[in-house]
Amino acid sequence: MTFSPLRGLKTNNMKPYSEACDQNRDPILNIIQPLFANAKDILEIGSGTGQHAVYFAEKMPHLIWHPTDQTQYIDGIKTWIYESKLTNLTSPLTLNVTQTEWPKIKVDAVFSANTTHIMHWNEVEALFSNITNILNKKGLFILYGPFNYQNKYSSESNARFDMWLKNRDSESGIRNFEDLDQLAQQAGLSLQQDYVMPANNRILCWKVNEH
Ligand SMILES: C[S@@+](CC[C@H](N)C(=O)[O-])C[C@H]1O[C@@H](n2cnc3c(N)ncnc32)[C@H](O)[C@@H]1O
Repeated sequence: MTFSPLRGLKTNNMKPYSEACDQNRDPILNIIQPLFANAKDILEIGSGTGQHAVYFAEKMPHLIWHPTDQTQYIDGIKTWIYESKLTNLTSPLTLNVTQTEWPKIKVDAVFSANTTHIMHWNEVEALFSNITNILNKKGLFILYGPFNYQNKYSSESNARFDMWLKNRDSESGIRNFEDLDQLAQQAGLSLQQDYVMPANNRILCWKVNEH
């Protein structure tokens, strides 16, 4: 068993496992289930182990869940999908948010958990600038994770986590909500809701502006 630099993400032989995913999946499900009630296609960015993809696809069988991540995560995600035997999960696509060619699909929502504090700022910018191209009219962008507000930490544990992140990679770190919302507005998205989540996390929900 090895501990990866990404929070709580372990690999056991070929199958990756994140304890955090087991802990946060139901609180996240409680928020996204009503939001995705009339949705069909969901694209996930930075699927990590693939646990969220499998759990949410199982709990919301009306959805088609499209997991994506960087190349090194794809085999692990495939292991989870294969074992799940679910038919509403697509084979994971390789997607680094900075790549110029994004998947050529249109989706009702993009979901991403615990990614913007791992990405460098130019990657966060790329994420927001590409997202509206794949979202349908009235599409949603759902972002789960820890965030700062007015450049202030929302807890001691988030401050410690941010220090740990920056020691590991000086260009990573907990992002400021106002900076993310500015990128969202530039991309044509409006904040619908900011949900308080357990363990000093949030879910930010943006929607494509109607013209
Ligand atoms: C802490 S893990 C979170 C994984 C999973 N979503 C979860 O909540 O357990 C961070 C994820 O962000 C992804 N990520 C980081 N930089 C990325 C980039 N430039 N493009 C796409 N994904 C990226 C990593 O590959 C990894 O899967």
